[in-house]
Amino acid sequence: MTHSFPSQLIDRFGRTVDYLRISITDRCDFRCVYCMAEDMTFLPRNQILSLEEIYLLAKTFVELGVKKIRITGGEPLVRKGALDLLASCGALEGLQELVLTTNGSQLVTAAPILKLANVKRLNISLDTLDAEKFKAITRTGDLEHVLNGIKAAKKIGFERIKLNAVILKNRNHSEVCDLVQFAVDNEIDISFIEEMPLGIVEKHNRAETYYSSDYIRADLAQKFTLQKISDNTGGPSDYYAVVNTQSRVGFISPHSHNFCSTCNRVRLTVEGRLLLCLGNEHSIDLKAILRSPDFTTKKLKQAIIESMEIKPEKHEFNVKEQPIILRYMNMTGG
Ligand code: GTP
Ligand code: 5AD
Ligand code: SF4
Repeated sequence: MTHSFPSQLIDRFGRTVDYLRISITDRCDFRCVYCMAEDMTFLPRNQILSLEEIYLLAKTFVELGVKKIRITGGEPLVRKGALDLLASCGALEGLQELVLTTNGSQLVTAAPILKLANVKRLNISLDTLDAEKFKAITRTGDLEHVLNGIKAAKKIGFERIKLNAVILKNRNHSEVCDLVQFAVDNEIDISFIEEMPLGIVEKHNRAETYYSSDYIRADLAQKFTLQKISDNTGGPSDYYAVVNTQSRVGFISPHSHNFCSTCNRVRLTVEGRLLLCLGNEHSIDLKAILRSPDFTTKKLKQAIIESMEIKPEKHEFNVKEQPIILRYMNMTGG
């Protein structure tokens, strides 16, 4: 008997889910203050999906209508075999875009292989151009490595490269113009991100570091002319062209400009949990289905289709209160 499944995933609010973010590791060579505690415990090997399991899930989602897959971490490139997995995902029939979010630390060696793997666009985290501040924010990172990585990626030539800068008041907010100038000089894009309260980080008070996208836009207006454009990368960035340049500036503003009504994505954690929203705990356990003795692709597809019924309408982030979401950002890759 053959089973027919819908060719698109649609939730109960009528939103089509055609974008899957896959976190392929919770590990990272950095310890950014807004993302992790300094002393993190990572998942043991037996709890994480194998690369074969991740590939099978990616393939299944594509069969259910997913058009864009973003590979994230932790830092995805620290997982052994990441580049092979990317190459197999890049060859999936029906997938329109394979993209990657990275901290840039391994790009000098990885960029040429990513290009061969059919990765179309890269998002690279860069919060500051000051080596000392970079060390303070990432705790372990080296700015020079990342800048060389960005250069290497630029040279290889991806369809687009976007920097991601999480802006924190009194840490890097005074650098927003310099960061845009860096993006303009390198003919790449940049998104400014409002920090989200995921996980409790000691000695880091999110209410004190909150810096709204509206302030950033006002700061940038002193030096650049920004023109609102309708470009859409399928993510939450609200884009502006930097007039007379090749660059776009995006604003990801979960607090000041909620974008949940257009949400088109779900997230797979490396533990095999399918998270229906970044800002809620609603999820289903796909690893349990994959590893069950009576596993069938039909059961897997059915579970994914049914999960659309519990996708929440919106997140309820509040920087002033203790977070209700206890998972750290490295579990979801943003
Ligand atoms: P593209 O639009 O494809 O370039 O990707 P993106 O900017 O969505 O992806 P990226 O991995 O670079 O994430 C940038 C920031 O957007 C991270 O801080 C993510 O946490 C945030 N983000 C992505 N999707 C969502 C979402 O659904 N909700 C919230 N609140 N933040 C999101
Ligand atoms: N709030 C907002 N963005 C975050 N990122 C990591 N943690 C947070 C947070 N708490 C960003 C990283 C990376 C992207 C995947 O998510 O800087 O660019
Ligand atoms: Fe690593 Fe990215 Fe988290 Fe920084 S934000 S610690 S680079 S996963």
